[in-house]
Amino acid sequence: MDTIRKLLSHLGEYRRPALIAPLCTLVAVGMEVLIPYIMAMLIDQGISKGDMGKVWLFGGIMLACAFVSLVIDSASAVFGSRASTGLASNLRDALFEKVQTYSFSNIDKFSTAGLVTRMTTDVTNVQNAFNMSLIIATRAPISLVASLVMSVVISPKLSLVFIAAMVVLSAALIAIMLKAMPLFGQVFKRYDALNASVQENVTAIRVVKAFVREDHEDQKFTHAADEVHDLFVRAESLLAFNNPVMGVAIYGCIIALSWFGTHSILAGDISTGQLTSLLGYVFNVLISLMMLTMIFVMVSMSAASGQRIVEVLEEEPDIVSPEDALTEVPNGSIDFDAVSFQYRSGDGEGQETLAGIDLHIDSGETIGVLGGTGSGKSTLVALISRLYDVDSGAVRVGGNDVCAYDTEVLRDSVAVVLQQNTLFSGTILDNLRWGKPDATLEECQAACAAACADEFIDRMPDGYDTMIEQGGTNVSGGQRQRLCIARALLKRPRVLVLDDSTSAVDTATDASIQRAFAEQIPDTTKIIISQRVSSFGSCDRILVLDAGRVVAFAPEAKLIETCDIYRDVHDTQNKAGAGADFDKLEGIAYDPISQRFDPAFASELPFEVDPAVEVELARKAGE
Ligand SMILES: Nc1ncnc2c1ncn2[C@@H]1O[C@H](COP(=O)(O)OP(=O)(O)OP(=O)(O)O)[C@@H](O)[C@H]1O
Ligand SMILES: [Mg+2]
Repeated sequence: MDTIRKLLSHLGEYRRPALIAPLCTLVAVGMEVLIPYIMAMLIDQGISKGDMGKVWLFGGIMLACAFVSLVIDSASAVFGSRASTGLASNLRDALFEKVQTYSFSNIDKFSTAGLVTRMTTDVTNVQNAFNMSLIIATRAPISLVASLVMSVVISPKLSLVFIAAMVVLSAALIAIMLKAMPLFGQVFKRYDALNASVQENVTAIRVVKAFVREDHEDQKFTHAADEVHDLFVRAESLLAFNNPVMGVAIYGCIIALSWFGTHSILAGDISTGQLTSLLGYVFNVLISLMMLTMIFVMVSMSAASGQRIVEVLEEEPDIVSPEDALTEVPNGSIDFDAVSFQYRSGDGEGQETLAGIDLHIDSGETIGVLGGTGSGKSTLVALISRLYDVDSGAVRVGGNDVCAYDTEVLRDSVAVVLQQNTLFSGTILDNLRWGKPDATLEECQAACAAACADEFIDRMPDGYDTMIEQGGTNVSGGQRQRLCIARALLKRPRVLVLDDSTSAVDTATDASIQRAFAEQIPDTTKIIISQRVSSFGSCDRILVLDAGRVVAFAPEAKLIETCDIYRDVHDTQNKAGAGADFDKLEGIAYDPISQRFDPAFASELPFEVDPAVEVELARKAGE
């Protein structure tokens, strides 16, 4: 009930059609109920007495009633769909707007696929149920009650037949529905799985293909689709019993009415016309009853959908700007004071992802961050721009707690090039201006030059007006990374975080990007997360993380002396030349038949390969 109230509060400007639709239905039903009654008068006063004038009169009235009811009924259908589609569109808007306010942890909670299902399938369910309710839910009970009242007025005794039939029919229908409803409930749950599978596979189709998992994914999908199919067949087979049950009830009523009715006519209790109209009411009553049960099923099925929508609408975004928020970040200094953090969902649950982090970074410093996968590097930097809130301790930027800033101001000043960065469909320029809407072409070009993106943009036929496909699929991994860096640079941030953002860029380009940083944004604090020690060339200090704890934080020369982890990584990578690239390539770019490195495969990799590494590997393959 509460859910329905909350959903309906989004009707907004569609409140009027939502009121008109049932009102129209009310009038239409009134007309329909009158028709059998007038029919009785036509028979009794016209046909029986041979009065043609009365026949024409009542016949005309009946026709008029039927026509009016038809027109009004259509109007009610139009208003009904206007109201329900309006409600759906308002709900989608509200959901979308709400999701925009979500923090990362809110999104983690629902999952992206979950949010998509809620905005599409669930809203459609609610829309259909609302449309049905507006029209049928007013029609059925009114028609039922009005027809019953009319029957009782005509003959209380004969109406007992109706009542008996109603009891039997309701019992049968309810039994069928109770059996069918859980099945429908399961269907909707399976739909979620189906949707998730579709979404996952369509967005990740490249990965599926690369791993030759098409057959496996195909089977998975077929299995999910078959389950939905089986459940539907079972549920619908149950519902198929509705019709014969209805038939038995209606014809049973007609036979009983004819039998008892003829006796009543002979006894002089009722007239022929009245019996005829009673027969008309049989249909009205029993069909209304059936519609009521259908509505009941429909509404309870969409109740789950409604609930899921309300959940999203009511979720409190857990990161909001404070009342008297600071609107300027004075400088790029960063402090972590005894910070601990733990994810609320997923694998990270139950153990601290970061524990007891104490860090002090001066404005303008360049910091490298090194650590194994899952050591908490991405998590650490997410706290700086307050993508997540700390559990204990405090994170300060420019001397103020991050929670004191307006989140928009903070995120403009702390530009993070995320590990899973995305470009949006639109031109390259559109994508760059995402960081700063009013950036001039010259500014964009300068940012691209610093990010070493200019060389490939200039080579593209349309230059800065080249269209980027959805998800940035028509640029290489390294090109995408460089565009994302340029986009972040345009913001002229106080703090720039690159989360493994040059992993797909060759070592030489990586180094020239860093040189450009040092020249162009000397005052910006730069945090560079990388798996390659070669990326740390320009770093003042390097932070070594392990299992969510700071192992060491010192200049490189000192780390090589004192930190075992760093020295190991440094030695291994230097031995292999551009080590990380080398390892990565040796694993991936091989010919599956000879199991050896094949330079032909290297050219198809999603990242650019250092030519030196390629030569070295080709040499090894030739041995
Ligand atoms: N959104 C999330 N929800 C739940 N747990 C998460 C989430 N993101 C990361 N984790 C967990 O937190 C831990 C640290 O993850 P994090 O992404 O910070 O590692 P990382 O050092 O950046 O690794 P990588 O080098 O692979 O990028 C991991 O164990 C991971 O499973
Ligand atoms: Mg990471």
